[in-house]
Amino acid sequence: MTFPARTWGIHENHYWLHGRTVEHPVEYHENLGMWTVTGYPEAIAVLSDPATYSSDLSSLFPAGTDMSFNDGNLVQMDGLEHRKLRRLVSHAFTPKIVADLEPRIAQLTGELLDELVGQDEIELVSALAYPLPVIVIAELLGVPAGDRDLFRKWVDTMFEDQADFSLAEGEDKLREDLDAQLNSLKPMSDYLTAHAAERRRVPREDLLTKLVQAEIDGERLNDTEIVNFAGLLLVAGHITTTMLLGNTILCLDTFPDQAERVRADRSLVPTAIEESLRLLSPFASTARVTAADVELGGRLIPRGQMVNPLLGAANRDPRQFERPDEFDAARDPNPHIAFGRGVHFCLGAPLARLEGRVAVNVLLDRFPVLRTIPATPPKFMDSPVMTGVSSLPLRVTA
Ligand code: HEM
Repeated sequence: MTFPARTWGIHENHYWLHGRTVEHPVEYHENLGMWTVTGYPEAIAVLSDPATYSSDLSSLFPAGTDMSFNDGNLVQMDGLEHRKLRRLVSHAFTPKIVADLEPRIAQLTGELLDELVGQDEIELVSALAYPLPVIVIAELLGVPAGDRDLFRKWVDTMFEDQADFSLAEGEDKLREDLDAQLNSLKPMSDYLTAHAAERRRVPREDLLTKLVQAEIDGERLNDTEIVNFAGLLLVAGHITTTMLLGNTILCLDTFPDQAERVRADRSLVPTAIEESLRLLSPFASTARVTAADVELGGRLIPRGQMVNPLLGAANRDPRQFERPDEFDAARDPNPHIAFGRGVHFCLGAPLARLEGRVAVNVLLDRFPVLRTIPATPPKFMDSPVMTGVSSLPLRVTA
């Protein structure tokens, strides 16, 4: 099987973007009004220089656009403001909190798979890869079990109503899209605001309480920042992890010799997960705006332009990775940039890696056979920024 993601990658020394060849690792696209960065060293240069490549995309929206949906959105902040907020939320969202989740993630994975007992064909995304990350984030925040379905509904709505935030259809359409997005997220914001207020009164052992209590040098998070950070966890941490789980199983299916290796030596599960992140990078593209004129890969990019490092393409740059289109479960070192690089490096990487490791191990324990079905092949998400399976039917034996 050929991965459609190849079109994001580099093949036979040509850079590929949406099925067409890009001649250069840094290229301007007139029709899109943006630059793509498909080379590894060039993408690293962008991600490592936040003063030149700003994450604040508000200048790309029409003047007067209500940007309040973006308040406290860590990913789109720069400089001191970003540093302060990131320190505060990191204070609450610690590696220890994540590590302590391991037994619970194993239990939840087991429970979700229990529902499939007796079936010899399963659809992995709806059965496990989609529900698991949203339940984990909801539990982490301290959402009562009875309200989990509400969370799932909001996450579904977020993805269904997702605006493409493009100016292609004019400013009015863009404003309409943004309003629709704000409206669909309002019930979730109201819910989280009420829960944050409740945690101020009655603290509990959960992330919402830790966010309410986090304090550095007398600074605390306000309600909007807490609510938007919790929302960001759902947006940034859900579907990406869903794809990591599905993509890893798909990689093992596509490269059966590697699957055998991993089954024979489970200490390879973590490197296999890193390799899946490299080969099928879930968050395939991120965005920056130039804060000054800058030269990149021999091209001059003027100030105020949108630059898109295509992480998925950079992760297959043959100048950096040998045999870039192959899945090598033991690849080490594997300096992929699927979680970004630099000041915005993914805050949820330890959680995504943990969920990946636990879920893949449970799946391998339960099912000695886990193979795709030729008659019902996997479907990929139809998105320019995401790479991953949206449906993965599998034949299994318990
Ligand atoms: C940032 C990828 C899972 C929370 C990022 C960035 C990438 C990324 C590429 C950097 C964006 C940029 O530089 O513009 C991924 C992938 C994941 C994943 C591939 C799963 C396989 C998670 C999870 C969470 C999370 C599980 C939390 C529950 C965040 C946050 C940021 C971020 C809060 C913003 C950090 C900052 O701007 O300082 N992620 N992510 N991510 N991610 Fe993840």
